[in-house]
Amino acid sequence: MITLGIETSCDETSIALLTDGRIAANEIYSQEIHPAFGGVVPEMASRAHLGKIDALCRSVFVKTGISLGAIDLIAVTDSPGLAGALLVGISFALGIHCGHNVPVTGINHLEGHISSIFLEHPDIGPPFLALVVSGGHTSIYKVMDFGRYERLGQTIDDAAGEAFDKIGKLLGFSYPAGRAIENEAAQASAGPLVPFPIARVSASRLDFSFSGLKTSVKYFLQERGSEYIAANRALICKSFQNSLVESLAGNLFEASRQTGITTIAVVGGVACNAQLRLRMRALPGLSVFFPSPVLCTDNAAMIARAGFERKKRGMLRFPHMSPSAKL
Ligand code: KG4
Ligand code: ZN
Repeated sequence: MITLGIETSCDETSIALLTDGRIAANEIYSQEIHPAFGGVVPEMASRAHLGKIDALCRSVFVKTGISLGAIDLIAVTDSPGLAGALLVGISFALGIHCGHNVPVTGINHLEGHISSIFLEHPDIGPPFLALVVSGGHTSIYKVMDFGRYERLGQTIDDAAGEAFDKIGKLLGFSYPAGRAIENEAAQASAGPLVPFPIARVSASRLDFSFSGLKTSVKYFLQERGSEYIAANRALICKSFQNSLVESLAGNLFEASRQTGITTIAVVGGVACNAQLRLRMRALPGLSVFFPSPVLCTDNAAMIARAGFERKKRGMLRFPHMSPSAKL
């Protein structure tokens, strides 16, 4: 079965081809216009998708030698995301659907991130817990079956990736700042960290909050001033990263304790972070799985894999843009 995946929900334009659920090609273009503005500019994102999508699509067919007529399914992200950006991918999918009579299914972007784990770990079977940590979302789901999700907790303010990006901005890193903060933190020498707060909404709730950590770092930087910051940037990054990772690890461990589920998938852009990966793998009694970094950040292979799973179960649905996330 050949699946064409299309992802344009934010600032990555991506097209993938899967054969029987495995990656044949996965083209990802990260838009370069946004760092100058300190964040994603929606109208510019839509136009940049329009400028790239055709060439990326052509490229996956050329690279694999697969022909358009051989596709069995088109899977396209239809929510959540930037409206204009989603519309580019959906219109592109519907164009192929109409022109070549190929079935099409809409995919929730978060279901796509969760499905990214199956690309390299096809044997992970439900029930498992999925921690989705991206620039827009931070949630823990109980995956009871493919397509059956119970959200156990979510952020009540910033997403984890958003916290990285906002702290990065305060420290002078360009958007998106997650990887830059990780690299800077790796330069810090061993020794005591700045004791930034490790957020916990309450002992029993599995929700997250990162605004307190963000405010604490902001005031710390204001009090210390630019000379101190310049001399201690690596320590500040390491301390911030540690607080954020500890808060994610604490809730994930508690979710496992409450549900009795010990198989865990950590997905989304922040799951690239090596410290987070180390910490999660060290949680006692849990089997924690991650996609490769290139499959953690937005990509069409994960969307295609979600489509592949839907097709197997007869769960296709026509793309529609819903104002709120279904997951
Ligand atoms: O999943 P993703 O590509 O897009 C969304 O669906 O939001 O995630 C992007 C986010 C950004 O906030 C970026 O700073 C963060 O993932 N990120 C990282 C790392 N690489 C990307 N955060 C921490 N450490 C990283 N190495
Ligand atoms: Zn994403």
